[in-house]
Amino acid sequence: MTRFFTTIDALSDDDLAAIYSLATSPFDDETLKGQGVALVFERPSLRTRASSSAAVHELGGFATFFSDEEIGLDSRESVEDIGRTLAETCAIAALRVRRHDVFTRMREVTGERLALINLLSNLAHPTQAVADVLTIADEFTKGDVTKLAGLEVAYVGDATNVTRSLAVALLRLGVNVSVGAPSSYQLAKDQVEDPFAVTGGGTLRLTESPEDAVKNADVVYTDAWVSMGAEAETDERRRELAAFQVNQRLMDEAKDSAIVLHCLPAHRGDEITSEVLDGERSRVWRQVFHRRSAMLGVLRWIKGEL
Ligand code: CP
Repeated sequence: MTRFFTTIDALSDDDLAAIYSLATSPFDDETLKGQGVALVFERPSLRTRASSSAAVHELGGFATFFSDEEIGLDSRESVEDIGRTLAETCAIAALRVRRHDVFTRMREVTGERLALINLLSNLAHPTQAVADVLTIADEFTKGDVTKLAGLEVAYVGDATNVTRSLAVALLRLGVNVSVGAPSSYQLAKDQVEDPFAVTGGGTLRLTESPEDAVKNADVVYTDAWVSMGAEAETDERRRELAAFQVNQRLMDEAKDSAIVLHCLPAHRGDEITSEVLDGERSRVWRQVFHRRSAMLGVLRWIKGEL
């Protein structure tokens, strides 16, 4: 049976447990032996591209990178025809796309012939969320993701695709999530990767006060104020989000033991100060380390190791 990793909320608890386990357990170079993985990027990337390429290679496969300029989803060729082509030549297609419905459209025409991985869409960044969970577990529960329930995680700033996947993943594990953002930058209910739809896990709290969001937080998380594609709004966003900067003053409102996460790239002096990003509470480079762990887990799960 072909597996798909497009959002956290499409996965069962057993699937997620398998991915977290496979991310950090010993592996060999047989899983993808001789198999091709297409890495398609409609948007720029450093961490996702580097970690995906490394994980594919370590599992014995070979990765081929395609930029938007080369294959042009819906400009040079339709998404459907690109999917049909990749299904004839690769085992897995991993894509960073502007519109989440690319995954639905590709799956409709390739069916069971092509496994798909979401490397970021406008609605979700699930491989980042897996890395974030692993990083938080390293810090608080010696790597055991099943023991995270009750932790307090605050996300501050522009609630993005990263926030959605992070919140769904954490809430599913019983972690309480607070999102501090101006109302027009807050989480919205949507059809996929919807934190509001998680039941029976942690609590989701929205606030317009950054201080309220981080009060009692074990983890303070932020992301860029100007996401890819929103560059024309840079000045407006800087103005409207200025009070949500993660700086020393805001960190003083969190627990003394609180750590800081950022999915990167960081914009020093905007959403986070260098003092905090480079400070002793920062775990951002451990997050980067776990981007590779996350890809190993996702690829091994896709290939049915658990
Ligand atoms: N966090 C993240 O996805 O980084 P890149 O955009 O560099 O891949």
